[in-house]
Amino acid sequence: MRTVRIDRFGGPDVLTVAEAPAPRPFEGEVLVRVVASAINPVDDKTRQGAIGEGTPPLPMTLGWELAGIVVDSPTSGLPVGERVFGMSHQLGTGRGTWADLVAMPVASLAAAPSRISLVEAATLPLPGLSALQTLDWLDIRAGERLLVAGAVGAVGGLAVQLARARGARVDALVSRPAQVEVAKELGAEWATTERATLPVAAYDAVFDTFGAFATEAVADEGRYASIATQAGPVPDLSHRAVRTTVNQVREDGAGLAELARIVDAGQVKVRVDSEYSLQDVQEAHEHFLRGQLSGKIALVL
Ligand SMILES: NC(=O)c1ccc[n+]([C@@H]2O[C@H](COP(=O)([O-])OP(=O)(O)OC[C@H]3O[C@@H](n4cnc5c(N)ncnc54)[C@H](OP(=O)(O)O)[C@@H]3O)[C@@H](O)[C@H]2O)c1
Repeated sequence: MRTVRIDRFGGPDVLTVAEAPAPRPFEGEVLVRVVASAINPVDDKTRQGAIGEGTPPLPMTLGWELAGIVVDSPTSGLPVGERVFGMSHQLGTGRGTWADLVAMPVASLAAAPSRISLVEAATLPLPGLSALQTLDWLDIRAGERLLVAGAVGAVGGLAVQLARARGARVDALVSRPAQVEVAKELGAEWATTERATLPVAAYDAVFDTFGAFATEAVADEGRYASIATQAGPVPDLSHRAVRTTVNQVREDGAGLAELARIVDAGQVKVRVDSEYSLQDVQEAHEHFLRGQLSGKIALVL
């Protein structure tokens, strides 16, 4: 089977499509024939060697998410032929998803949403679970005010939509004027590129996807969650009784099942910027590096 490997760190040219033996599923796992995956910022950082401590040993297969069909299910509940999607914590496990076949724990998969294609479904697991798990930590309730910083990015765009589905009122901080309308289309009531215009102490919760640390915007006794691990910790706000965290995404089949339900209910729009075939993975990464994306870049096997 084909797999996208790196044996050194660097630019997109270090990505090679190599042959590897098919994995065999262990107890509690199924074998998935991958139909599509997608590129995330962590893949770019891993390829560059920018993660540092905790990077799996070289050579490694990259990729965190997949959608495909179960082709071997020796012991588990997901039957052969099931359409599934899943997230693999590639940094934690070394199990990359950019491969024709991936053996995955059943607990890290769920039945894919039925209303969308497997290519679209492949763009959801990492940003979707990041958004869902962080909104759960923020404990967002109907009627509460949430600020999403980086609101049209992959995680931010889903966070806006999922928070709206919970009945929250959402505002958006974005990087470029063209993104203001996009944030509103996703469900933000108000969006700005100007951090200085954010209302002070106005938000019950802030979901920060890029290390904005817009701590002045959160209300006393509010909640502030960042997912920008490399930007470091959120400043201590305990003097204002604000709870803070830097959230780390976890493999979570139950969370994926919830995402599938929300997508099938029509409450989330899935945004795919472009599709590349596996052999064009270098070109796909060059596109990712150019930025200005209007959704995710999918890798189609
Ligand atoms: N901790 C975790 O478990 C976890 C999980 C998932 C992702 N992450 C990390 O979270 C970050 C976001 O991930 P993603 O997939 O959503 O990335 P993304 O799709 O690139 O989105 C990032 C968004 O933030 C915006 N942004 C960046 N700097 C900004 C600034 N100074 N002002 C306003 N907006 C700004 C970007 O705008 P432009 O497009 O204009 O640059 C983009 O819309 C990445 O660093 C990723 O590695 C962490």
